Amino acid sequence: MSQQHIVAEAPPATYKLPAWLRVCFWIAIVISIGVVLRRVIALANPTHSGPPQMAGLDEAFTSHTALTLAHIVPALLFVLLTPLIVLRRTNQPQWLSAMFYPLGTIVGLTAYAMSLYSIGGWTERSAVLLFDSLFLFSLARAFIFHSNAELTLERRWQLRTIAILLGIATTRPVMGLFFATASLTHLLPRQFFGIAFWIGFSLNVLIFELWLRSVDRHRERASLSQIHSSPLRSGI
Ligand code: HEM
Repeated sequence: MSQQHIVAEAPPATYKLPAWLRVCFWIAIVISIGVVLRRVIALANPTHSGPPQMAGLDEAFTSHTALTLAHIVPALLFVLLTPLIVLRRTNQPQWLSAMFYPLGTIVGLTAYAMSLYSIGGWTERSAVLLFDSLFLFSLARAFIFHSNAELTLERRWQLRTIAILLGIATTRPVMGLFFATASLTHLLPRQFFGIAFWIGFSLNVLIFELWLRSVDRHRERASLSQIHSSPLRSGI
């Protein structure tokens, strides 16, 4: 048996999230659910009260209610599916894939449409064009691996898809920070929304890719030590 053959037989990656990443994942889920519920309530009861900056934002989204709902309702459903994918130990049931890919496509396409009205102008739009395209590309790769029954690769690309998508949740605490320091910085939402989008999505992509590479390195080391301790190599 060749060395190459032994490497190819290394156990497939399971991509089990470490505890710290699972905590981040759950925080992102809670934030995502919270922002959708808040937006649905604001769309259903436009009050025009509250801090002027928030009232202005609420009015902006009320001006395109149908599109906003077409984006956030599938986004909420998609987010509710993600724990079943991230934390699952067995193979994915067919109904889950049947919902995951269409919902992801709707979220990605409506996000492009939402960016036509982006509060943060071109700074925000450029972040959306990049990260939404990365999201849809990863979703398409996952779907191709799903169609070819390459389940480990499908999982790798599904997790990447989810990590990018949840960048939207990371933008929220960043925006919160900008709102909280607005009296010092004098920055308005139209000035900091784009920056928050860039920071939020970039952080998620960076953290996820670093983790993925550490998983890959770990597997490489494990399969190398398997070769060194193999009876063929040691001549037993
Ligand atoms: C690929 C992922 C996503 C992208 C690129 C994206 C992009 C966008 C864009 C461009 C807007 C308009 C913002 C503006 O007008 O300035 C928006 C609004 C919104 N998105 Fe997404 N989105 C994504 C995923 C999600 C997810 C997963 C959720 C939650 C489950 C979500 C919830 C919302 C909400 C609630 C709004 C209305 C604005 C608000 O209430 O803050 N989005 N999104």
